[in-house]
Amino acid sequence: MEFNPLSPEFRSNPYPFYNLLHQHAPIFYWDQWKFYFLSRYEDCAALLRDDRLGRGSFDESEVPASQIDLIRMQSDWMLLKNPPDHTRLRGLVYKAFTPRMVEQLRATIQTITDTLLDKVQAQGEMDLIADLAYPLPVTVIAEMLGIPQADQDRFHEWSNALAATLDLTEDAAVYDRASQAAATFTDYLAELAAERRRHPQHDLLSALVSVEEAGDYLTMNELYATSSLLFVAGHETTINLIGNGMLALLRHPDQFELLKHEQGLVKTAVEEFLRYDSPVQMTARIVLEEMEYGGYTFPRGAQVAFLLGAANHDPERFEKPGQLDIARQKNQHLSFGGGIHYCLGAPLARLEGEIAFTTLLRRLPQLRLAIDTPEYIDNYLLRGLKSLPLTF
Ligand code: HEM
Repeated sequence: MEFNPLSPEFRSNPYPFYNLLHQHAPIFYWDQWKFYFLSRYEDCAALLRDDRLGRGSFDESEVPASQIDLIRMQSDWMLLKNPPDHTRLRGLVYKAFTPRMVEQLRATIQTITDTLLDKVQAQGEMDLIADLAYPLPVTVIAEMLGIPQADQDRFHEWSNALAATLDLTEDAAVYDRASQAAATFTDYLAELAAERRRHPQHDLLSALVSVEEAGDYLTMNELYATSSLLFVAGHETTINLIGNGMLALLRHPDQFELLKHEQGLVKTAVEEFLRYDSPVQMTARIVLEEMEYGGYTFPRGAQVAFLLGAANHDPERFEKPGQLDIARQKNQHLSFGGGIHYCLGAPLARLEGEIAFTTLLRRLPQLRLAIDTPEYIDNYLLRGLKSLPLTF
């Protein structure tokens, strides 16, 4: 078995490769891309918090014209920035995502979940992805931002195109497509922001507009970038918590029965789904200053990839990592990252997951897989299913 993160074998099932990395090369240098891949929990946890690693800078002059709009948007994503800009951008929105603020969305999330299930309940079958896992988080984040319902469908393609650039890929078409999406997305947000300037509402976009108006604290480009990042992050991740989690649960009927009868386990179950088949399998950083680590010298400018899905299956950290245990204790997985970029939306994702699983098991207790081997989307970094047909 050869480690190549671009190979179809790796992308369709990375877990056997993770086992090999743990055993033989916990720090693996991949010559083809000059990347150091980290697979051990301890290494990932330590280096995610190490400020000798960070994000690279963007240089528009090195980018083809067909990708300028993408670079312009992503260069102001907090996800891809270092302090102090990262700190400032995160500070502007973090209050909306604290566990206390998010808890206030409980009734809204429950209503959205119930409305979505009402549409399929009588049919006896559903595609979990199209009918719930996708529309639930999308509707929630769109409502938080204040994007009118009528426009929400148009966002699917834009968001998908942008998310594709987060994967490991050398395909220029992926970046060109994303750049077109970024341009259209920006135009749309510009119009909506102008509308909110005239008629402020109780939503995140209006809040950001008022910050921008107050002075030089937030530029217009940062406003578009922040809104689009929240939109993409809210779109492309929680979908996979619900999809991958349900697939795992249905493949372990004892765990399914356990959760059905002991709904109090839903919090630990959600943590276990996040660990067991992680929605975000990898993140990366650049070495900002030369450093020694684990017997290696990482030169300045080198790329370090954190295999979060591998760290979450590290036998030195997790007992029987290949086993799904919805009551697992001491389950501090790295599915939301670590350090300064730790997922801002984690409390929201957790609450959405909790409500989705509780409601599904309560309303559709006879859920079964309708096919044996559902297909995964073609994105290694964001691991998720294309569809998940179920009967009930
Ligand atoms: C199960 C669902 C989710 C997973 C697994 C997840 C995972 C992650 C991970 C691993 C990171 C860190 C990436 C890195 O260090 O490079 C991250 C960052 C982030 N996530 Fe999430 N996420 C989820 C849901 C959400 C939601 C619902 C939102 C908001 C609507 C969100 C917003 C963000 C933002 C804004 C960042 C960047 C934070 C920063 O740079 O400081 N995420 N997420």
